[in-house]
Amino acid sequence: MNALLEVDGLTVRLPVAGESRTVLRDVSFSLDAGSTIGLVGESGSGKSMTVRTVARLLPDGADVRGSVRFDGAEVFGLRADALRSYRANDVAMIFQDARAHTNPVRTIGDFLTEALRTNDRMRKPAALGRAEELLAEVGIGDPERRLRQYPHELSGGLLQRVMIAAAVAARPRLILADEPTTALDVTTQAEVMAILGRMRREYGMAMLFITHDLELAGAVCDETIVLYAGQVMERQASTRLHEDPLHPYTAALVQARPEIDRRVDRLPVITGHPTTAYEAPDGCAFAPRCHFAQERCGAGVPPLLRIGPSETRCVRMPALRGRMESENADSLSNEEVTR
Ligand SMILES: Nc1ncnc2c1ncn2[C@@H]1O[C@H](COP(=O)(O)OP(=O)(O)O)[C@@H](O)[C@H]1O
Ligand code: SF4
Ligand SMILES: [Mg+2]
Repeated sequence: MNALLEVDGLTVRLPVAGESRTVLRDVSFSLDAGSTIGLVGESGSGKSMTVRTVARLLPDGADVRGSVRFDGAEVFGLRADALRSYRANDVAMIFQDARAHTNPVRTIGDFLTEALRTNDRMRKPAALGRAEELLAEVGIGDPERRLRQYPHELSGGLLQRVMIAAAVAARPRLILADEPTTALDVTTQAEVMAILGRMRREYGMAMLFITHDLELAGAVCDETIVLYAGQVMERQASTRLHEDPLHPYTAALVQARPEIDRRVDRLPVITGHPTTAYEAPDGCAFAPRCHFAQERCGAGVPPLLRIGPSETRCVRMPALRGRMESENADSLSNEEVTR
């Protein structure tokens, strides 16, 4: 059986000040129907660009190499009608800032019925009835009143539920969620995640879930992909990532994470600065911040290495596996750890 989504060798360049800048470099992964993948990494690592590329929502002038296939069809080969149908019926996006994606002078009812009336050609009363059902599905009481309200009359958590209702309206097969709970307080985050999880399971929707929160990715996603400088550094089953990281960057993220019962909206600090794909050094992009860097790490971009069902972009794996705790970093000499 083919995967629902297959991303293969995806490289994206965007025009900036007359230059072409790489933002994603050779990104590959696949997602099965009904499964979830978490995308984690520091700001600028390419998480949003990855999901935007999947939705084919890139800025003008983007240069896209490689392939994105949805249900076997090449997304960048879709003609206008097919692309419209793909975006309306197959994939749906949920963003971090729900308020920024609503129109302040239009009601929740207008917002929810717009797509129903355009895509499903519903008449207004039927669309309003369906919108009420959708609000009830995401746990919003008194839907009739809510539909008459404006975005500023709803809390951030309620508005994000409205976004989820809009996203699942067409029963898409893939949800692209770009930090949907980052702007919410901890309790509301948990409620919104529970609703998203329930909707996803009920309708068998797959999800690409962006988060700064490794713990949350671990709790919600089957697999986690760790991005750095526009590259996949590691892909692993989420349950394994914390106890058995397969890349020094992941190990550093795991060690730097805050207490398990505290949600965060930024990944904790790792010494050194993150780099963009555009500014990444030759060789391993993480080398300037890596405790374990050796001369050979600078010789070309490390290939994605398979370790069982997982992948890592580190030339020193699997020799470093299980030995990356920071307190041992300095004491692990290059001779000690050989492949
Ligand atoms: N419209 C744009 N034009 C040019 N570069 C962009 C644009 N949007 C984002 N970028 C760059 O692409 C890289 C990846 O960005 P993004 O995917 O938004 O990161 P993340 O979501 O992981 O924080 C960053 O270096 C960012 O500066
Ligand atoms: S390839 Fe080298 S520099 Fe890069 S993560 Fe592995 S050990 Fe560190
Ligand atoms: Mg982003």
